[in-house]
Formats: sequence, structure tokens, C-alpha cells
Amino acid sequence: MSRERRTQHEERAEMLTREENELVTRTAAGTPMGEAMRRYWIPALLSRELPEPDGPPVRVQLLGERLVGFRDTAGRIGLVDEFCPHRRASLWLGRNEESGLRCVYHGWKYDVAGNCVDQMNEPEPFCHKIHLKAYPTVEMGGVIWAYMGPRERVPAPPRFEWTRVPESHRHVSKVWEECNWLQALEGGIDTSHAPILHRTITAKTARPGIPVLGAFVRGGKPILEVDVTDYGYRYAGIRPLGEDQTYVRAYHYVMPFTQIRPQQLGRGRDGRDRTMIAGHMWVPIDDGNCMVWNWMYSFGKEALTEEDRMERGHGNGPDHVEQHGEFRSLRNKRNNWLIDRQIQKTETFTGIEGINTQDRAVQESMGPVVDRSQEHLGPADRAIIAARRLLLQAITTVQDGGDPPGVDASYYHARAIEKIFPRSSTWRETVLPEMYADDGSLAAVH
Ligand code: FES
Ligand SMILES: [Fe+2]
Repeated sequence: MSRERRTQHEERAEMLTREENELVTRTAAGTPMGEAMRRYWIPALLSRELPEPDGPPVRVQLLGERLVGFRDTAGRIGLVDEFCPHRRASLWLGRNEESGLRCVYHGWKYDVAGNCVDQMNEPEPFCHKIHLKAYPTVEMGGVIWAYMGPRERVPAPPRFEWTRVPESHRHVSKVWEECNWLQALEGGIDTSHAPILHRTITAKTARPGIPVLGAFVRGGKPILEVDVTDYGYRYAGIRPLGEDQTYVRAYHYVMPFTQIRPQQLGRGRDGRDRTMIAGHMWVPIDDGNCMVWNWMYSFGKEALTEEDRMERGHGNGPDHVEQHGEFRSLRNKRNNWLIDRQIQKTETFTGIEGINTQDRAVQESMGPVVDRSQEHLGPADRAIIAARRLLLQAITTVQDGGDPPGVDASYYHARAIEKIFPRSSTWRETVLPEMYADDGSLAAVH
């Protein structure tokens, strides 16, 4: 069998069965993937959604569970079941006052730990018998994170490098996506689509996209290399550039739903380089919807600009996404993402405005949960295949009572880097040494 034939055969063997597809996509409480995902810190709310003590409570749905977040009088965060244990009224309607959230129906009141502390309608209160489900939280990097797993297995705090830089050097936003979390994640870690889906098709357009004359589009088809690590994997998209150069974009996948990507070469005004890294987290809302968290930061001296925070080219900022409530995108499935066929003919590959809007369009176009048993995978899908394998392994590990990858501190220093270098050297020599900050030591490879 030729090498090429063998590779095709191997990739076909990596396709998921219908059963595996169900297993890896469903995250409600009690499902195998749901239990594995509950072993990690999960971004729940932007800190700015709960800006002040005793402010309005906010609805949030995570992994199929409907919750309410509130900041109490002392500034503590509560993340509790949306529905009052008495007769199930929504606590989103509640009064956030005097160190607790009070249901407006009969006045039962709960503190941030879910303890019932008052029952206005009962002559002989039985508060001690009542408990509201409440999850522990940490606030870090402008994000309120929840832990929904067993209390004796709380993971290391989610100290990604972006959570540790000053606020001036960081930006976080989020946007609702109308499909299962895994197909959104797979779109994010898939480097081969980027210079195709997102390209402009003329140098004469001012529309956002990956420039037709830039290295990403000019580079050849990528070879992918994936190194499995303690937290997931690091991987490189290696593209030949011109006669004698190589363009490498090197990323990290941090279990279970985070990708870290480089944004350095030519990302500044006038095409200068920047010290930027960006990424996403794709967090299940329920099985047919996810919240895409977008973050970017500068690891150098340079702070972010107001223009950076608008995220215009990406379609994630205030011009494109509502900045409260459900954080819905204005361009969405119901209006065909406002595709413009004339622009598709003359300016951009898709005719859809905004790079991440383009991502959401293709991912949402597959339907709520794509049937992976119908796919035809190739070597360009190697990183996606690796992620699926890790997720399926994590399910088994958790079922067997173990800890899944990435619940420790192993990813804290991970950085994504891109470089162009002479063909005579390799990304392991030129890029890899910069992929971990501080002490520069590499994460273990398995
Ligand atoms: S339903 Fe909440 S107090 Fe009765
Ligand atoms: Fe993309």
C-alpha cells in the first residue's frame, strides 16, 4: 500500500461512529462527556455582567443547567440554580439585597452558598431543610469561572497567561453560537480552513479577512504536527512560503475547550508585528448551542488599543454582537449571516462580514449537532482527530475515577507563536522555544 493510501486509510479509521459522536458531544449532567467537562473551571460570566454589589441577577446556562449569577452586598459571587426550591419560580426575578438573593414569589432568600436564610411566608421557618444548588466560582482575568464537579476534585485555578496580564493588556468578550460546542471547537483548532474561508480575493478591498497577498494565503497547504502534552496538545501548521522559506503558526489546545492562537506577524498598523496572542473557549450552553469566549492579550510592553477592543474585523464586538443578555450575533442563522453574493464574487471568499462570523456561519450551517459518522477526513484534519481522541480518552479516565488532562497547572505558561524562517531550519528549533513563557521549559510530551 502506498504511503498516501495508508494515510487515507488511517484517517478513515479515525472517523467517529454515531455512538461516539453522541458520547463526545452531549454534556448534560450525568452524561459521560458532561461529567468529564465538569472536572474543569468553566467560564460562566464576564465580570462586567455583574459590575456592582446588589446589582441585578443575570441568567446563565452552562452544560444544559439553567443558573443565575449575582454579586452580593459584600461583592461575593453567587452562581445558583435559576429555580427556587419552594415552588420553582425563577430567581432571575429576585431581589438581590442584604447579602442574598430573595425570591419575589414568597420571599425565600438564599446566600451565595445556596443556604436558605429566610422564609417570609412561613410562621415557623424550616430554612435548615432547604438548600439551593450553588457552584463555587473564581474571578480571574475579567471572567467569573464556575466549578460544577465533585467538591473533592477542584482543579487548579484557570491561570492562563491572559488572566495574569494587566487589564490594559487584555480584552475578553463572548458571543452566542447556535450549534454544539464541539463543532465550534473543531472549527477553531482547524488551521487549514483559515486562509481559505477567511481570505479576501482582491487586494483592493477594505473588508476584513485574511489578506490575499499575505503569508497565510500565499503559503502552501499546511503539514500539521501535533505533540500531545499534559494539558492537551501543542501543534504547528507548517506552510512552505516562496522558494526558500517556511511559515509556521503554532498553537495550543488546552482541554477541554480552549485554543490559544498567535497574532503577531504584520498584525499592527502599517503591517508591523505585535506581541499579541488570542484564543477562544467554546462552552456548552446546551447540546445545540455554545458560548464562544474570545480573548486577546499582549505579552509585551504594548497595551491594547480601543480599536483592538472593538474587534471589528472579527465580528465579535459591540458593532456586531449584543453586549448584554444572551450576547447574540446580529448576523446569524435566521438571516443567513447577511451573506452578500456580490461581495462574495468580488471581495471576500464568503461574502459574509467578520472573520468569526464566517466561522459561526459554516459551523452553524452543519445543524445543531453534526453527524461525524458522515465525514471524510484527511491529514489536514489531524489536529481535530487528536482532540476527539483526547476527549474520548478523558471520558474513560473520569469514568475510571482518574483525573483528565489539564486540571493541573501545566498550561499556565503556554504561548502561541508564529514565525517565518529559512527552509533550512525547523519549527522545533525556531518556534517551539518561545511557546512557553517565563522559564521557557517545555510541557511534557506523551
Ligand atoms: S417560589 Fe420562591 S419563595 Fe415560593
Ligand atoms: Fe476560522
